[in-house]
Amino acid sequence: GRHLLSVQQLDSGLLSQIFELAELVDPIAAGTVRCTVLDGAVLGSLFFEPSTRTRLSFESAFLRLGGEVTTTTGFTFSSMAKGESIHDTSRVVSGYSDVMVVRHPDKGSVAEFAEASVVPVINAGDGDGEHPSQALLDLYTLTRELEARGKTVDGATVAIVGDLKYGRTVHSLMKLLTLASGITFRLFSPPSLELPLEIENYVAERGHRIIECDSAGEAVSGADAVYATRVQRERMTEEVLATANVTGNLLNRQILHDAGAQDIVIMHPLPRDSRHDSFDLSSDVDDLPGLSIFHQTDNGLRIRMAIFLVAMGCSAEAVKAATKNQS
Ligand code: CP
Repeated sequence: GRHLLSVQQLDSGLLSQIFELAELVDPIAAGTVRCTVLDGAVLGSLFFEPSTRTRLSFESAFLRLGGEVTTTTGFTFSSMAKGESIHDTSRVVSGYSDVMVVRHPDKGSVAEFAEASVVPVINAGDGDGEHPSQALLDLYTLTRELEARGKTVDGATVAIVGDLKYGRTVHSLMKLLTLASGITFRLFSPPSLELPLEIENYVAERGHRIIECDSAGEAVSGADAVYATRVQRERMTEEVLATANVTGNLLNRQILHDAGAQDIVIMHPLPRDSRHDSFDLSSDVDDLPGLSIFHQTDNGLRIRMAIFLVAMGCSAEAVKAATKNQS
């Protein structure tokens, strides 16, 4: 089907198609031209976990393409609060929608939604599983940022620091990056929050290199980009959190400076956790030239527009024919 559940479904051809559509829709995303290609279509947006970027950018993407949006958030405001199953919920809502976007706290649950749905389902994050639309916007941003510096993703060295165990954006991005050639990953995480073996093997089997580092400074040293993540506290019991050594290690300006990495491309899926002193990205890097976190969020709108176009079988020609200058 045309579901998007995992980055493992993507190949270089589909990746290029999505990135080309993301370029094409740029003026539509910016609001300078209007598009009605999805006129009459309805998005069913189901978020059973908190979200700012993913939900609002998916919904804005659908609206910018001329469609309409229905939405429910949390477990309290749908009949799942009365014990309705994923199967029944999905079958019902898919009967009201042309495409569904689903976020759910359990790994594998969005695939269950897809099985029962009569329309395409897009995974907007399933527990500590995957977050494919995030990986697409991350790779799109990384590609553009490196190209602006005369570099390519092929052969790049990418530092990834933070919670590598529960961070689904890391899992999806590392798998997606295997479509490039010769990536070197430099990893640094708390000892209790290391990358799952499954992801390590997936990357290694495809010929890419992983280097385990002992500090954030060591990880960013010589890297072209750094991808920092927060500790996914909502996925840990209090017990695990208490024993996990997650304090300190905020990636900041001083660490980048000391590692000679003050010009590195700086990425983070966001949100940054401003309430805890633990593995994350400090806001004191925000005026460094490589800061790309808001390029990621802006590109997210364009990438999610492209994802809808592919899921709904809309060509670039159909988009152009349904686009007119704002008057
Ligand atoms: N990056 C990301 O998924 O953000 P939200 O949880 O706010 O959607």
